[in-house]
Amino acid sequence: MRIAAGVDVGSTQTKAVVMSDNGGVKVLARALVDTGANVQRAAERAFDACCQKAGVQSGDVGFVVGTGYGRYKIAFGNTQMTEITCHAKGASFLCPGTRTVIDMGGQDSKAISVGATGEVLDFVMNDKCAAGTGRFLANSAEVMGISLDEVGPLSLRARHPVKIATVCTVFVESDILSYLAQGKTGEDILGGVHIAIAKRTLSLARRLNIEPEITMTGGVARNVGMVRALEEVLGRKMLVSPDAQFVGAVGAALFALEKLDQSFESGIWREGHAVPGGH
Ligand SMILES: Nc1ncnc2c1ncn2[C@@H]1O[C@H](COP(=O)(O)OP(=O)(O)OP(=O)(O)O)[C@@H](O)[C@H]1O
Ligand SMILES: [Mg+2]
Repeated sequence: MRIAAGVDVGSTQTKAVVMSDNGGVKVLARALVDTGANVQRAAERAFDACCQKAGVQSGDVGFVVGTGYGRYKIAFGNTQMTEITCHAKGASFLCPGTRTVIDMGGQDSKAISVGATGEVLDFVMNDKCAAGTGRFLANSAEVMGISLDEVGPLSLRARHPVKIATVCTVFVESDILSYLAQGKTGEDILGGVHIAIAKRTLSLARRLNIEPEITMTGGVARNVGMVRALEEVLGRKMLVSPDAQFVGAVGAALFALEKLDQSFESGIWREGHAVPGGH
């Protein structure tokens, strides 16, 4: 049995998965930690927690692929790959038939055209501004004094969603406050916020050919309101795996399993393998 791991060090949250190819390729365990200021430490914590959950020693993990914005800070990783490549690979595995990925993370959003074997055909990215990202939704929740978990479900109860004129995080706060002062309900304000972000994300994705199946990935896919709003503006359903936030890490782990296969075949299996913190 070969065991490999993928660690996706995102700007906001760090995800690790341990996978094996014993009786079919599968995810053994997943772990999620906040990235925080110490990126290297977050990667180690996620990896260690994941190994523990999977019931394996870190030394049993034959290959680790790092991805995400902090991938070069993973001291124990064997190699790094870009988030785009890993999201395409992971989405194709978890949601077969994926041809378009919409990834909404903490600080950026991306759309990726994916080929039949999970390869990247094209991509577009918005990393200049928080609009259309988890940070925007987190800011909105904060202004309204509610938790992030409540944002999506509340937005689904909107009857008359307000119009949000700007999707700039700097200005949305005053938009929200003025709607609150006008007596608009939290549901209607959040409904408007979700629609504004969905439209913004669609205008990014439209720079590609949006082919079905469309798969949503990233932590924002855990927000049911955002999934619904995007489906409304897209005019069709998306695929959303229960592991949506782990898609990049799953893609990285799949590449790690492939590396083990190649190394095994060429007789250099486990060579150069290192574990975090030397244990
Ligand atoms: N339970 C939840 N409900 C709603 N939103 C959530 C939930 N959990 C996480 N999120 C959102 O997901 C975001 C993190 O997603 P993700 O882990 O994909 O980001 P990241 O990979 O760190 O960021 P990036 O890809 O931009 O570097 C958070 O900012 C938060 O807004
Ligand atoms: Mg990410």
